Amino acid sequence: MGKIKFGVVGFGHIGKRHAAIIEGHEACELIAVADSDPEAFKDTKTLQYADLSSLLKAHSEIDVICVCTPNYLHSKHSLEALEAGCHVVCEKPMGITSEDCQSIIESAEKNDKHVFCVMQNRYSPPSVWLKEMVESERLGEIYSVDISCYWNRDQRYYLPKTWRGVKEFDGGTIFTQFSHFIDMMYWLFGDVTNVTSRFHNFNHSELTDFEDSGHVLFDFQKAGKGSFTFSTSTWNRNLESSITILAEYGTIKVSGQYMEEVVHCEVKDYEMPDLPPTNPPNNYGAYKGSAANHHYVIQNVVDKLNSNQAITTNASEGKAVVEIIEKMYKQGS
Ligand SMILES: NC(=O)c1ccc[n+]([C@@H]2O[C@H](COP(=O)([O-])OP(=O)(O)OC[C@H]3O[C@@H](n4cnc5c(N)ncnc54)[C@H](O)[C@@H]3O)[C@@H](O)[C@H]2O)c1
Repeated sequence: MGKIKFGVVGFGHIGKRHAAIIEGHEACELIAVADSDPEAFKDTKTLQYADLSSLLKAHSEIDVICVCTPNYLHSKHSLEALEAGCHVVCEKPMGITSEDCQSIIESAEKNDKHVFCVMQNRYSPPSVWLKEMVESERLGEIYSVDISCYWNRDQRYYLPKTWRGVKEFDGGTIFTQFSHFIDMMYWLFGDVTNVTSRFHNFNHSELTDFEDSGHVLFDFQKAGKGSFTFSTSTWNRNLESSITILAEYGTIKVSGQYMEEVVHCEVKDYEMPDLPPTNPPNNYGAYKGSAANHHYVIQNVVDKLNSNQAITTNASEGKAVVEIIEKMYKQGS
């Protein structure tokens, strides 16, 4: 079987990570990268293009494009790659409107191509364990699910001004910082309804066009009540991202900076197994992101294309997360 041929558009922080993982995978080959900023290429010898169109035109042999550009360009670049006959790995969030996501779904169907959304926290051992706990129905009725994300994103992150913090390019903090945790909630408990939100801007008015913090209440469509509290105003560094589940037969809390550790598990007739350690977070120097699990995403592409295994986060799930975020913003004040 020949190697799977990749291109990467957006060769910034995360595009470079995609490229390095592709280059290190024996079943993959990195053909070329595209970025509008020539500075992005300064430490690479990989074949370079100034835009995705030129890259696609020059390389009809490419099988997969990783879309690693700013949030507002995910749909544009995904559509361009799909129309050129490539599969797409789309960084989170899949788009900043559900209409954008829908157009990607329709193009993927029309062109008979796959879309892999990047939600790499799903691969962390506590996430895999939580999924099994919920699906086994060992917890009985779910009463409430509370998610708290207290992170730091200050001038070290937002300056110099790029796409980050600009409403039309970034979307907002729930899209950029916390969509992983909305995905986790959706993956475990499904869609939400009766959403009410309150947003605040404590100390980002000079840095962003939008809120830095919020309190959101909702009901799960299946069962149970939920809340999501978030902030990027935590002083100096991230505090935590946690999920607390109260259920008929047990109480669980997964916490740490990016939900990497089960800190409480008390469940009827159940003994908590030892879990393997979670990978460290993506480290961007002054600030830290979610788990460094992108190699699992590229492995999923290989497994799907070579062995027809399931896609871990497909396009309809990517869209569902964007729809939940839209509900939170629409119902907010
Ligand atoms: N999964 C994760 O944990 C994770 C982590 C970090 C970033 N991301 C996502 O990845 C995306 C990029 O984030 P980043 O931190 O790498 O940002 P970045 O600013 O470091 O990189 C974006 C790159 O895209 C380039 N670019 C902009 N417009 C372009 C265009 N029209 N054509 C080609 N290149 C263009 C920029 O020059 C830049 O090099 C965002 O959507 C972000 O949400 C995901």
